[in-house]
Amino acid sequence: MTGQQSCERGGFGSRVGFVLAAAGSAIGLGNVWRFPYTAGQHGGAAFVLIYLVCVAAICVPVLFAELAIGRATRRNPVGAFKALAPGSRWFVVGGLGVLTGFAILAFYSVVAGWTLGYLGKALLGAFAEPLTHEQSVAMFEQIEGAGIVPVLLTGAFLLLTALVVRGGVEAGIERAAKILMPIFFLLLVAMAIRAMTLEGAGEGISFFLKPDLSKIDGGVFMGALGQAFFSLSLGMGAMITYGSYLGANERMPGAAVSVAVADTTIAVLAGLIIFPTLFAAGGDPSAGPGLVFVTLPTVFGKLPAGFLFAIAFYSLLVIAALTSTVSLLEVVVCYFVDERGWKRERATWLVTLGCFLLAIPSALSGTFLDWQSIIFGNYALTIGAMLICLFVGWVWGVPAAVEEIGRGGAVFPLAAAWGVIVRWVAPVAIAAVLIYIVATGNYM
Ligand code: PHE
Repeated sequence: MTGQQSCERGGFGSRVGFVLAAAGSAIGLGNVWRFPYTAGQHGGAAFVLIYLVCVAAICVPVLFAELAIGRATRRNPVGAFKALAPGSRWFVVGGLGVLTGFAILAFYSVVAGWTLGYLGKALLGAFAEPLTHEQSVAMFEQIEGAGIVPVLLTGAFLLLTALVVRGGVEAGIERAAKILMPIFFLLLVAMAIRAMTLEGAGEGISFFLKPDLSKIDGGVFMGALGQAFFSLSLGMGAMITYGSYLGANERMPGAAVSVAVADTTIAVLAGLIIFPTLFAAGGDPSAGPGLVFVTLPTVFGKLPAGFLFAIAFYSLLVIAALTSTVSLLEVVVCYFVDERGWKRERATWLVTLGCFLLAIPSALSGTFLDWQSIIFGNYALTIGAMLICLFVGWVWGVPAAVEEIGRGGAVFPLAAAWGVIVRWVAPVAIAAVLIYIVATGNYM
């Protein structure tokens, strides 16, 4: 080890720094791309309902657990488990997280590359005229299905991420995001209003908001749980890393809840854009990973100055994705720097190169991407989160964790309930969903 401090980033006052970094990690393609298509595949509003329950009852408690581990140890995920349970094998959970982060980065950067492609199209004026659904499908094919193009776009996005992580300019990006993300939010609100007032939008609104409880099955639970962990960047240690940004005098609970609320609001807004637009155009909500990319372009033509709207939207989405890929790469790089003694520069380039190689199959095949997203985005994060709960609840211990969460004079009125959730409710609920999935063989 080259020392526990070597991967810490300076540059901001801690509470603001934490909220910016954590919200930057959480808000990204998970909200705008993955949430709507997963909801679409799992019956719409029934999924949304279970998703909200998962966020409030399981994911926010896990967020507290990860932040507590991070603030108490100020280390990368592997080092953090080693510090809290020396001599045990719990560090393997941190290792699983690092591996998961690597694999997520590999498919995430493919989708981020598509976003870059759309930004290019927007700048070239492709959204100046209103597009039909069919034209939009053809446009997606020119990006996603064009062989070398998506590979190059993926590489470009990974390069961008590596330059940020290597240069240690994340603080600058996050400061910029502080101004840009509220603009993104306003843009999404404007798009949602336009989408919901399209002719034929009503059906889309009810698909997204009026739950049909008969659609709830094991797959819906698994999909919602996995998506909730994915969207909040939980289960792989990103929030362990970012917990170290919270100074000892900062109040964690409020900051953590604001990150979760911001993240969930953006996801719901994205749904309120996608489904009304999609149903108005007669598209299929279970289309999978291409859903959002095919649906969104048709709404720009119906907005005033639609092509400027498109440029602003894709620029902001690229930045939102970048603050997420930075957090993924950062976790993996920190592991190599802190635990393996690599130089930051070397770690950044080697990890990025490895990621690019793993990304190529996803860039070439939507099916491969879908599988990567399910295995690592759903299952690995969910299992990781379960192990983190077991660790905090039974090994590190609820009293020590509660003390950490309440540090800095924070009020933590639900401490007792939180203890029961991390010891019992979350691990049992997650295990039950996993067993049910295995028993029914319904893995998607
Ligand atoms: N939460 C990010 C998003 O929704 C993705 C991510 C997952 C980032 C896991 C870090 C860790 O876009």
